[in-house]
Amino acid sequence: MGFIEEIQRRRTFAIISHPDAGKTTLTEKLLLFGGAIQVAGAVKSNKIKKTATSDWMEIERQRGISVATSVMGFEYHDVKINILDTPGHQDFAEDTFRTLTAVDSVIVVIDVAKGVEPQTEKLVKVCRMRKTPIIIFVNKLDRPGKDGFELLDEIEQKLDLRLTPLSWPINMGPKFKGVYNIFDRSLYLFEPNKQRVEEGIAFDDLNNPFLPQYIGDDDTHTLRDELQLIEGVYPEFDIEQYLQGELCPVFFGSALNNFGVKELLDCFIRIAPRPVGRDTEERHIAPDEEQFTGFVFKIHANMDPNHRDRIAFVRVVSGKFERNKPYHHVRLERKLKFANPTAFMAQKKEVVDEMYPGDIVGLYDAGNFKIGDTLSEGEVIHYKGIPSFSPELFRYVENADPMKSKQLAKGLDQLTDEGVAQLFTGKATGRKIIGTVGALQFEVIQHRLLHEYGASCRYEPINLYKTAWITSHNKAMLEDFKARKASYIALDKDGRDVFLADSPYALQTSMEKYKDIRFHFTSEF
Ligand code: G4P
Repeated sequence: MGFIEEIQRRRTFAIISHPDAGKTTLTEKLLLFGGAIQVAGAVKSNKIKKTATSDWMEIERQRGISVATSVMGFEYHDVKINILDTPGHQDFAEDTFRTLTAVDSVIVVIDVAKGVEPQTEKLVKVCRMRKTPIIIFVNKLDRPGKDGFELLDEIEQKLDLRLTPLSWPINMGPKFKGVYNIFDRSLYLFEPNKQRVEEGIAFDDLNNPFLPQYIGDDDTHTLRDELQLIEGVYPEFDIEQYLQGELCPVFFGSALNNFGVKELLDCFIRIAPRPVGRDTEERHIAPDEEQFTGFVFKIHANMDPNHRDRIAFVRVVSGKFERNKPYHHVRLERKLKFANPTAFMAQKKEVVDEMYPGDIVGLYDAGNFKIGDTLSEGEVIHYKGIPSFSPELFRYVENADPMKSKQLAKGLDQLTDEGVAQLFTGKATGRKIIGTVGALQFEVIQHRLLHEYGASCRYEPINLYKTAWITSHNKAMLEDFKARKASYIALDKDGRDVFLADSPYALQTSMEKYKDIRFHFTSEF
């Protein structure tokens, strides 16, 4: 197969949802269709359980397994599908944001009874900013839930999306009879059966007199009326608008019952975007450019205590990645060769010789990589769009073992390269401050410092509300601000100035008073 065909047949996406909406179950059913796993339950056992808030040791244990599910590749009708896993736990939201930079589209799972939940809102906002094409799967139709139209209204309003239903449910809960697939004009009847794959019955014309035989007179009437309403109210599906992130198709089903999943997948492989290019600071890179380029969006520590290796996950953006070929590490200005690049096929990892745009390659790394790093064949480019967000929780970190200060420094450096947390150094005090988006990370850091670096740390409280990166064209004003606020200025890992605001008031008054200073809440500006 030629280079262009290889690119064209790839689909790289993530499934996102609020915890419990059914992301894991849906992922698993998709893998079953692809023949990538044989039994239901295989992915489920890898899931970071919801008890995780208190039981973070469990997370550590599962983190090891979850390397294998970070990327799940499989083939379906000659299409190479790469599903990127996103942690459901909200303390790892930033991991999820970063993973979204490596996909070309997303499927959003919504629980029919719960509707739009907070985590869904946050994640969809990121997708909207990036204009990522979105398909919505409304799940758990076997349970009573919100009325279809009300739910669509809620999704449109809360998620600020334009929708077009491509399937429509016939009742829900105990009376759920199935869905009419608007996309391929056929009726799918529901049977609560967890493994069976149902076949649709073609109903091109809804006035077909045989329809009531399948769903009864009343439901036939309702279905006809509702579909007419849909036709009148919702825009027709338009693939270009979908690909621009301006129109989102909606499917209904029940992942647990394997219902509506195949239609979703069949439609997905027809409409979902092929690998798209990415912007660098210098220029746009198209996937079919001959020279290989890619960026690191995730770093995962190896769980094997005998190896300090980590795996850096690289999204191939252009060209062909080849094993043992020297590539240019732009930030380090060094050539690196990779003897064991790894591909992820469902539950297996395997060494591969070549990877194509859209693929995710895992590179063993002894500390060379940082989130956001670019690899190329020599061209100096910097991929954009992998920002750090202003953290929400802060603590001073202190060395608890004076004999191990080097280990502590190295551990903190590497863990923050992995994106577990952000590290700031107070300019006046030299004290180190860790900022995270979730409380769990503090424990994870302490534990990993001890077990992977032999360093111990203790935390001390710091009263901080938010951090903001500060820049200004008005040098005098910036210097004045930094001098006046000296005890509230820190440096990030890259040596950039950061304002430590201890209250919303402090932040607001500073922003009002120092009009020429720009306060940035993400690291990319
Ligand atoms: P998540 O990854 O989004 O967090 O959700 P997950 O798939 O783990 O699903 C959350 C719960 O919802 C699970 O039940 C799962 O079985 C159930 N579920 C998923 N899809 C459907 C569906 O279509 N219908 C119904 N009725 N339930 C569904 P659990 O009791 O938390 O876990 P388990 O004991 O079943 O493993």
